[in-house]
Amino acid sequence: MIILGLNAYHGDASACLLKDGKIVAAAEEERFLRVKHWAGFPALAIRYCLEEGKIPLSDVHVIALNRDPSANVFRKVLFSVARRPGFSFIRDRLKNAARTGKIDADFRSTFPDEMKRFHGEFRNVQHHIAHLSSAFHLSGYPEAAVCSVDGFGDFVSLMTAVGMGAELQVLDQVYFPHSLGLFYLAFSQYLGFPNYGDEYKVMGLSGYGKPTYLEKMREVILTDGGGAFRLDLNYFIHHSEGVAMTWEGGEPKMGNVFSDEIENVFGPARLADEPISQRHKDIASSLQARYEECFFEILKVLYARTGQTCLALAGGCAMNSLANGMIFDRSPFREVFIQPAAGDAGGALGAALAIYHEDADHVRLPRLERADLGPGYTDSYIADLLARTPALAVASSRFRVRVLPEHDLIRELASRIEDGLVAGFFQGRMEWGPRALGNRSIVVDPRRNDMKEILNEKIKRRESFRPFAPSILREAVADYFETDAEVPFMQQVFRIRPEKREVIPAVTHVDGTGRLQTVTEAQNPLYYRLIKEFGQKTGVPIILNTSFNENEPIVNRPEEALDCFLRTRMDVLALGTTLIERT
Ligand SMILES: [Fe+2]
Repeated sequence: MIILGLNAYHGDASACLLKDGKIVAAAEEERFLRVKHWAGFPALAIRYCLEEGKIPLSDVHVIALNRDPSANVFRKVLFSVARRPGFSFIRDRLKNAARTGKIDADFRSTFPDEMKRFHGEFRNVQHHIAHLSSAFHLSGYPEAAVCSVDGFGDFVSLMTAVGMGAELQVLDQVYFPHSLGLFYLAFSQYLGFPNYGDEYKVMGLSGYGKPTYLEKMREVILTDGGGAFRLDLNYFIHHSEGVAMTWEGGEPKMGNVFSDEIENVFGPARLADEPISQRHKDIASSLQARYEECFFEILKVLYARTGQTCLALAGGCAMNSLANGMIFDRSPFREVFIQPAAGDAGGALGAALAIYHEDADHVRLPRLERADLGPGYTDSYIADLLARTPALAVASSRFRVRVLPEHDLIRELASRIEDGLVAGFFQGRMEWGPRALGNRSIVVDPRRNDMKEILNEKIKRRESFRPFAPSILREAVADYFETDAEVPFMQQVFRIRPEKREVIPAVTHVDGTGRLQTVTEAQNPLYYRLIKEFGQKTGVPIILNTSFNENEPIVNRPEEALDCFLRTRMDVLALGTTLIERT
């Protein structure tokens, strides 16, 4: 059975291909179009997935979309009658439904010849069922509690379930206009971070503040002790005026969702270019603290209802790695699984998995261990590219270009990193999800105090308060962190042991934590060897890992990696087996 799963007409548009229960390929459209969080019809990601699987569109049995406009219609009507929202609100929702309904037309115009031979069906999967499916069906747990938390999808912001075998039984839902994700979004906007997906910056900022506004936050979002929550709508406008949203054919944009009442209570909103004050940091800290209170109340109730000790998480809020790192301390859950693309991109995979598991005879997938589901490029492709790159040919005295055996490549790269150089590491297939995990990464020495500044100065130019993350050999986790958890996809923050913090200052956040990525040889042999080699040289089996990009989506093709290397001040680039160095 061949299923093409899609997240379309929404931020982080993406596609995946599932063949007989095996993930053939999965990728976000932004990597091909080079526009962050691109929203619309993911034509290039679809084409890539089909090519990777060598499967013509005509062989696809089901095209599954992670949205279902028919879901919760009764509630939508009820809301409109009871609340009488403004015209713009109703117009936006109708536009939204119309977009989702035109998917077969988009397929016909984008793939006209292939669609003449397509006899499969289009299926809609409710947004949060797709999130839940992506979490549970990739977790490998025979049974588990499952939770999806986000802004909104199909009129729902929270869905909890228990997963058993191939089945998901939904337990609870929270409906529009109440949303934990929207609560976080509102304060991110208020704090001067207006771009789609900026919430993680506010999470980083929260480490610098004290939760002095926590009592006030408790009045903005209220909990009842039973796992449900509701917003005090006086602080918001999304339910009455709607939100100006641009979802089609570009970077998604959202208008403000908070009302003047937030400014009345918390003071004036920060403009994006305004300096960040202690008040802003304290509000960020209070926001994160209140988010955690709500999140752990949800988990407490979910545990009580299911009795399960394993938890599978998805939805945009499952990207809150700070809260995720506290799950073992603040909830009874003993194991947690979060797939690499836990946000909306991952809904493509979830929609496909939901359809696949409708057939009870289908065997469940093993736990997803690796995230390298995107495009890969051969050494000959890279050699051709280098041969036709004028910058390397004309100014050859400025660069040293060598093809090396793997062992030498790793040894030389580890020693350049030890020397304090900034290295690009482009290997294998691109990662699925927003984190670079050693295939499209920039890697540097975590032991240097000045490495954060060097990285920002040479390449990243990002806000100084944002932390950089450590990749660590799986077997060394307990030596450096106050945990021995396995975190292959960099989705949980843990405390670094106090005595180790000054050993790895470049990856130690102001609050003594790190968002670690554990690496095993089975998950990523080459990256494992690089960290191990660096560990043997320095005694520290950890490398600072940041995504390979410069204010753009993470690089996909070798062309983009080389371009980034040439236009920034990156010192070294390992492009497959080729090592390129500035001389
Ligand atoms: Fe979502």
